[in-house]
Amino acid sequence: MTKIIVIASGKGGTGKTSLAAGVGAALAKQDHKVLVVDGDSGLRNLDIVLGMSDRVVFSFADVASGMIPLTEAAAHHPDLEKLFLLTAPAEPLKSGALTADGMRLLARQANEEAFDYILIDGPAGLAEEYHAFAAVADEAIIITCGGSGSLRGAERMARVLEDDGVMQVRLVVNRIRRRLIRRGAIGTVDDAMDATGLCLLGIVPEDEAVSVAAGAGKPVQSDKARSAAAAYQNIARRLHGEEVPLMRL
Ligand SMILES: Nc1ncnc2c1ncn2[C@@H]1O[C@H](COP(=O)(O)OP(=O)(O)OP(=O)(O)O)[C@@H](O)[C@H]1O
Ligand SMILES: [Mg+2]
Repeated sequence: MTKIIVIASGKGGTGKTSLAAGVGAALAKQDHKVLVVDGDSGLRNLDIVLGMSDRVVFSFADVASGMIPLTEAAAHHPDLEKLFLLTAPAEPLKSGALTADGMRLLARQANEEAFDYILIDGPAGLAEEYHAFAAVADEAIIITCGGSGSLRGAERMARVLEDDGVMQVRLVVNRIRRRLIRRGAIGTVDDAMDATGLCLLGIVPEDEAVSVAAGAGKPVQSDKARSAAAAYQNIARRLHGEEVPLMRL
């Protein structure tokens, strides 16, 4: 069965798209067939981050409405054999346009095409689409950068997805700056877990390679042990059920 994971946050700009691209690429390199879905109608950018803007024509809404089959709409990544992208509509969706049944149709086709994972890069905040995404999601990842506003939004988003029936909701704390944590300037990972009541899926360090890779349209890569690339690989392994120790920063 295809495992469907929705990536959400309360506040915008916490790193959802970077995580979808980084973990999607990591899972594909680990030999899983992966579909990353840009769920951010009207504000799509996962195609740019993955360097695939020239390859996307049809959106997840075209597949969910039954107009276009997934095999035609999903674009193949130029370098990673097992990575596919389904983009978002260029314009915001009208209210009620995306239904749970539409997402079930998409999920069924992904299953028939033997996708191992779907990662949905969600929009910021409590967008209506989350109800349809939650209807098919096995799991959700809430990503936060810490700080009280971001944590409150993360906690709220987690409860909404749980109320919608998502069985497992886990936390990623992004952009961790070791020096700042030591000086107590931002909340620690423990604070984030306490504030949201979620189990930790992983931590991602602050790493300029993330924005450099996005600018170049390439998956983030690094041999360094404390890099964002290594963090995305660890998260991919944990999603697959492996026990991977937390990165030491
Ligand atoms: N670990 C990181 N280290 C450094 N920069 C990062 C990291 N994660 C994300 N960024 C940068 O932060 C910015 C926002 O990231 P991203 O677009 O992934 O967030 P988002 O949650 O998808 O935003 P939105 O809510 O607007 O969709 C980008 O410029 C990205 O390159
Ligand atoms: Mg985004």
